[in-house]
Amino acid sequence: MTRSQWGSRLGFILAAAGSAIGLGAIWKFPYVAATNGGGAFLFVYLGICLTLGLALMLSEMALGRAANAGAVGAFRKLAGGFWPIIGYMGVLVCFLILSFYSVVGGWTIAYIGKSLDGSILTSDAKALGAIFGGFISHPSLPLLYHGVFALLTLAVVAGGVQKGIEALSKFLMPALFALMLLLIARGLTLPGALDGLAYFVAPDFSKLSGAMLMDALGLAFFSLSLGLGIMITYGSYVGRDSNLVGSALWVIVLTVATCFLAGLMVLPAVFAFGFDPSAGPGLTFITMPAVFAHLPLGQLFAVMFFCLLLLAALTSSVSLLEVVTSFAIDELGLSRRTAACGMAAATFLLGIPASLSLGVWGDFQLFGMNFFDLLDFVTSKLLMPLGELLLALFVGWKAWPAVRDELAAVCPPRAMTALRGFCMALAPALIGWILVGGF
Ligand code: PHE
Repeated sequence: MTRSQWGSRLGFILAAAGSAIGLGAIWKFPYVAATNGGGAFLFVYLGICLTLGLALMLSEMALGRAANAGAVGAFRKLAGGFWPIIGYMGVLVCFLILSFYSVVGGWTIAYIGKSLDGSILTSDAKALGAIFGGFISHPSLPLLYHGVFALLTLAVVAGGVQKGIEALSKFLMPALFALMLLLIARGLTLPGALDGLAYFVAPDFSKLSGAMLMDALGLAFFSLSLGLGIMITYGSYVGRDSNLVGSALWVIVLTVATCFLAGLMVLPAVFAFGFDPSAGPGLTFITMPAVFAHLPLGQLFAVMFFCLLLLAALTSSVSLLEVVTSFAIDELGLSRRTAACGMAAATFLLGIPASLSLGVWGDFQLFGMNFFDLLDFVTSKLLMPLGELLLALFVGWKAWPAVRDELAAVCPPRAMTALRGFCMALAPALIGWILVGGF
């Protein structure tokens, strides 16, 4: 069977960046950075993205292109034995992430509605907090939006790789950047905003801790879509002649830039309006409406913002569903349509308890976390780092010849030696150390 291919190198970069840039950067990054004390977290996060993130992104893409196969198939083709377990684990984690990701994706749809009817256009912190809290804890509304988001994701995936994902990503990124810059300009000119800026960029390294390192590691992998075989799958659609090093760098730079812009967009406004920086998962949803309330044509910008956030979330959720779907096509022999529908339905079902655990089922806790937080914890902080640890070992010790052949033409020999050494020892040691320290 011939595999689909990206229409162009730019298409590949945008699609990979589209997978990476999403709710992780715009919803998760600002609140995790804020709860971890701001500047120091930003530094640690950047450091991890530019070292571990770059090496592993490159490795995943190279593995995919070398094997010309998706997450599980790549490990089987290049090594066999027990190695495909990494791929299976990645597929499972994609499935788990998609379930709660789709819940948050649903929130963005609901907020498009709330922008249209104007109900969120106020800078009253209490009111905005109450609107958000009331919505996510409602027993049925968030489920409805979660379902709509899952259907949208399904529609793109069932339509095929190139038409769906690539077309969406091309338009999205420039629009998102332009709007964020405008919102940053507004936020930074609010009285009191500079305190937020200082909080976000000035590092206070007394805030370093094991838990913070673990948060940064988990968020780095989550925001870069690493450790699940997504970049392996995407890499397998890349033509021979394309420069993977450049592509990986672009994806990292674009993602990290989006996280940084999202922080600049949210945190100064948090301080200007006197919101609580440690408000948690609601931070972006509570803060941005207050900015819109202080902007001429604020309602229009609010609608645009949540539409773009929805699209950014969709290009990410599509990549998650794509991995699970191509797994079902390759391994279970299902048609694309059946596979996509079945997997979308399954993630929708798992998302139901995740959503309800923020409201009516909130009392049900495991290890001191509700189900939503538990899914997030198990995926970002445990399984993704573990997947990357194993992947680094795989690249360093087992699949190096294949990876080397993919990169040798565009990577100087010294960099190749460094990459291999990094994958063999340093990366696994670093990830292992952070994981152990975090516990
Ligand atoms: N990186 C995506 C985001 O930040 C989420 C994601 C994680 C997508 C893992 C794919 C794999 O929104």
